[in-house]
Amino acid sequence: MPGAPRSEIFDDIYFSPEDGVAESRYVFLEGNGLPGAWRGRARFTICETGFGTGLNFLLAADLFGRTANGQRLDYRSFEKYPLTADDIGLFLMPLTQPSPNRGEGGARCAEGAGSMLAKLVKKYPLRIPGFHPLEFGPVRLVLMFDDVNKALPELDASVDAWFLDGFAPSKNPDMWSETLFKEMARLSGPGASFATFTAAGVVKRGLAAAGFHIERIKGFGQKKHMLKGTLISPFPSGEGRGEGTPQVQKIAIVGAGLAGTACAWLLRKHGVKSVIFEASQDVAGGASGNATGIFNPRFSQGRTAESEFYSSAYALAIRTMQELSETNDIGYRRLGSLHLVNSPEKQKRFRSVAESWGWHSDHMRYVDSDEASRVAHVKVPHEALYLPDSGSVSPASMCAAYADGIDVKLGVQLMVGDIERVGENWRVLGEEYDAIILACGEGAKWFRETSWLPVHTVRGQIIQVEDSGFADDLVCNICYGGYISPGESGVHTLGSTFQKWLTTTDIREEDNDEIIARFTGALPRAEDVNVTPTAARAGLRTASQDHFPIAGSVPDLTSWKLGQDKDVPNLYLTTAHGSHGIVSSIAAATLVTDRIVGRAPGLSVPVIEALSASRFLKRARKKGQLDRFQENVSLPGV
Ligand SMILES: Cc1cc2nc3c(=O)[nH]c(=O)nc-3n(C[C@H](O)[C@H](O)[C@H](O)COP(=O)(O)OP(=O)(O)OC[C@H]3O[C@@H](n4cnc5c(N)ncnc54)[C@H](O)[C@@H]3O)c2cc1C
Ligand SMILES: C[S@@+](CC[C@H](N)C(=O)[O-])C[C@H]1O[C@@H](n2cnc3c(N)ncnc32)[C@H](O)[C@@H]1O
Repeated sequence: MPGAPRSEIFDDIYFSPEDGVAESRYVFLEGNGLPGAWRGRARFTICETGFGTGLNFLLAADLFGRTANGQRLDYRSFEKYPLTADDIGLFLMPLTQPSPNRGEGGARCAEGAGSMLAKLVKKYPLRIPGFHPLEFGPVRLVLMFDDVNKALPELDASVDAWFLDGFAPSKNPDMWSETLFKEMARLSGPGASFATFTAAGVVKRGLAAAGFHIERIKGFGQKKHMLKGTLISPFPSGEGRGEGTPQVQKIAIVGAGLAGTACAWLLRKHGVKSVIFEASQDVAGGASGNATGIFNPRFSQGRTAESEFYSSAYALAIRTMQELSETNDIGYRRLGSLHLVNSPEKQKRFRSVAESWGWHSDHMRYVDSDEASRVAHVKVPHEALYLPDSGSVSPASMCAAYADGIDVKLGVQLMVGDIERVGENWRVLGEEYDAIILACGEGAKWFRETSWLPVHTVRGQIIQVEDSGFADDLVCNICYGGYISPGESGVHTLGSTFQKWLTTTDIREEDNDEIIARFTGALPRAEDVNVTPTAARAGLRTASQDHFPIAGSVPDLTSWKLGQDKDVPNLYLTTAHGSHGIVSSIAAATLVTDRIVGRAPGLSVPVIEALSASRFLKRARKKGQLDRFQENVSLPGV
């Protein structure tokens, strides 16, 4: 059995080598008055500094499972140096086995925490910066892989209990900063509690300044003292706070592509019924209907809210595809992708991405031509940005899996007159809904409230080819401006064209030629291959003015023009997924679902702002050009 894990960076231990379980229970659970504190609360939020092995999380989740009744736990945890899932499994396995000397509740803890450990290891995200929401039934864990002092100001939550566990202040002085205590004051709900293993003066002073009443009590084991306390507030724990749990029952979704079906799938997990209205005769009848697509993030230079969105979304999409593929054939294959550096612009951009995005090299690295060739099993004449976790999937099958069991009304093209506001709710074709989600690509412009959105379509065509030569040796996706995704049974997918000026989805021979020319131009030996398309499909992507998706609430344009900046009640958007909808649609659906079910968002505030439709209005207002946006009052269907 391995000893208690130790951090080489901080020269400190993760938990007590004598009894980590008893320590965690004494310091953090009892220190915060759990389970009593969550009794009678519909939602309870814990925030932890330093996830480490996840022992505190497992024990809190286990206790919640044994004592909560129809409640929800939101557990937020920061971690700057994430361990691997394998290490977590290795370190915690012995602690979650029944042990005679673990005291009362030890065996029961072992049972609950052991099965939760297996789930955690399975769902653990890629070690890349960003917010990573993981669902375990009524328990949601949002892992925030970042420095707590950087990410805490980006958090939107109302915290009930703080687990302050980031190594001793003497070993890790940077973490116990003024920012930490200031942010604790901002994020604490009325009567919030804290507990920490340390009794250091810097911590005591910081917490006192943040408005906490502090008690110094006996520490665990050999430790002399620890601290616990509560926020000094006029309300006892939990009182005076809206629980933010709107009673939503039925949602209308417009569009049965990746964006809409992902929302329906997530809402269903929350017990919320949705009805999808889809203009075409099939689920995934629009851009999402391709048999094969590549999943990867959109690369932008530098670390920004946009890169953080694609990092979180990519990791989430991978977890989601893994889950879906357990019960559905969605063609999910984690082959890896090489993004070739075949222009000076890409060299600059990809180097900047590899350096600034902060992904662990297990998940992204810049490789030379030799390594790229070894990865691909064919000669690659370029350097490349390599993403080993990337791969291919069938977007059409993903939509079908998401929509399984959902009421989808096919062949129904909603017009502006078909949706109608009734107070805070909506009527769609005469039936009442608590909210509407517009997940209909550029079709959002057909509705008055969103007719002003700066979105447009970009036509694209992909082809499938059969080949018994070069491409059959290939074992990963290669992206070169176009892309090739090797098939399982000799059928390879090649993409794709980009035409902003065309709106037809008819197959164009010249597009086939263009796709093949780009492929043979990018890889030597590809020109030797007789590439003849056996199938082709064209679709219309939707893109926004700034090439970033749009998700969340819909700003009420009239109120913005009056300087009141309100949202249209209970109207939500998820659109403009461009060329990366496999990845971005599930993160957008998570944000929209969080809003609808009234829980704190699983994405950071800068990311939410970057996704918001109001960003266009804010930018226009700055330039004094808000009047440039107009609601279209003469839409068909009125
Ligand atoms: C050729 C091509 C290749 C691509 N390759 C990739 C790839 O490799 N990887 C990747 O991640 N992405 C890829 N994409 C992009 C990806 O397909 C899109 O980002 C994604 O499908 C967008 O999903 P969506 O649900 O927003 O849009 P859609 O799938 O277009 O769904 C919108 C739906 O709304 C319906 N609708 C519109 N208006 C109304 C209305 N008024 N009433 C009822 N229904 C309505 C439409 O019929 C449509 O079905 C590709 C796209 C194309 C075209
Ligand atoms: C004592 S360990 C946490 C033990 C953990 N709660 C467990 O159950 O295993 C402290 C953790 O805090 C992390 N950490 C240290 N400084 C940090 C910072 N500035 N931001 C985020 N995490 C930090 C460390 O990497 C380490 O994993």
